Amino acid sequence: MALIEVVQGDITRQDVDAIVAAANTSLMGGGGVDGAIHRAAGRRLAEAGAAIGPCRPGDAMATPAFDLDPPITHVIHTVGPVWNGGQHGEGEVLASCYRRCLEVADELGVRTIAIPAVSTGVYGFPAQRAARIAVATVRSSPTSVEVIRLIAFDRETYDVLTAVLGE
Ligand code: APR
Repeated sequence: MALIEVVQGDITRQDVDAIVAAANTSLMGGGGVDGAIHRAAGRRLAEAGAAIGPCRPGDAMATPAFDLDPPITHVIHTVGPVWNGGQHGEGEVLASCYRRCLEVADELGVRTIAIPAVSTGVYGFPAQRAARIAVATVRSSPTSVEVIRLIAFDRETYDVLTAVLGE
């Protein structure tokens, strides 16, 4: 059973084996957490992403971490749903992102992973609903990952994730 923890901070500075990028289908970088990871990893990340993309919403694909600081060895790129009112399967796609990230982590032999609040920024997914899906999915997904660190970039997200985890 993995330890699930909530940490507020910058995902590029986490002492974990793999970090998850909330990407777009091209895997060539963008803004938000995706942009932060690409800036820290260097231009080879976009080249590696272009070589394996596109990535469908709900799926996850891994690349090396390039210039990201150790112990990070891999970036797992996942594409979250764009919020469209909640009646178009957005919840299932978001759950799939978390499930697939853990599956890819298992394939890589990753033991510790940091995952941002996928889709809750540019893609507009309500934070509370996304937190419930994130926690429920990682709790119910069989994985060899030992530590799953849910990263909040701001205090509001931290409070929402902490409250949901404590339920
Ligand atoms: N570390 C951790 N979390 C971060 C960081 C960071 N350095 N920067 C931003 N975040 C948080 C945001 O505050 C938000 O809570 O990541 C969460 C996800 O927001 P976005 O990065 O906007 O991702 P998303 O909503 O999934 O939209 C993805 O935005 O940047 C583009 O290429 C990306 O097209 C894709 C879309």
